Amino acid sequence: MPDFAWNDSYSVGDEEFDSHHKQLIRYIQILDDPGEQADLDFLRAIVDGLVAYTNYHFSAEEVVMRETDYPGLDRHLAQHAEFVDKATRFRDDFRDGAVTVGDEILDYLKLWLVKHILTEDRGFTRYREKTLAAS
Ligand SMILES: [Fe+2]
Repeated sequence: MPDFAWNDSYSVGDEEFDSHHKQLIRYIQILDDPGEQADLDFLRAIVDGLVAYTNYHFSAEEVVMRETDYPGLDRHLAQHAEFVDKATRFRDDFRDGAVTVGDEILDYLKLWLVKHILTEDRGFTRYREKTLAAS
């Protein structure tokens, strides 16, 4: 998948969450093209960082979803859990001796993130806009 990068069509209309999504994209870009100098310690640190930042970001979204009584919360939580599970197994593979970042996991991370932002996170944005307009 060429040209995996942030673009404005990914905006969910929330500066904080947009900046989180940009950071997640950045982690994946680095894993996709870590550069000539990257050694195993560097890759491990990036994979650790991706998992930690993902947990931080998902928690932040989930707090706002709970505060606003988002009816799609359970479905959203299930999607987050699926991604965390996959990313955590990826991290554990690295801790257990994996030395390369495979195409399968890279494609999964990219596709999942873009699809999730464009459908699920956008769905929450629409809900927030609707409830704000009604209050
Ligand atoms: Fe989300």
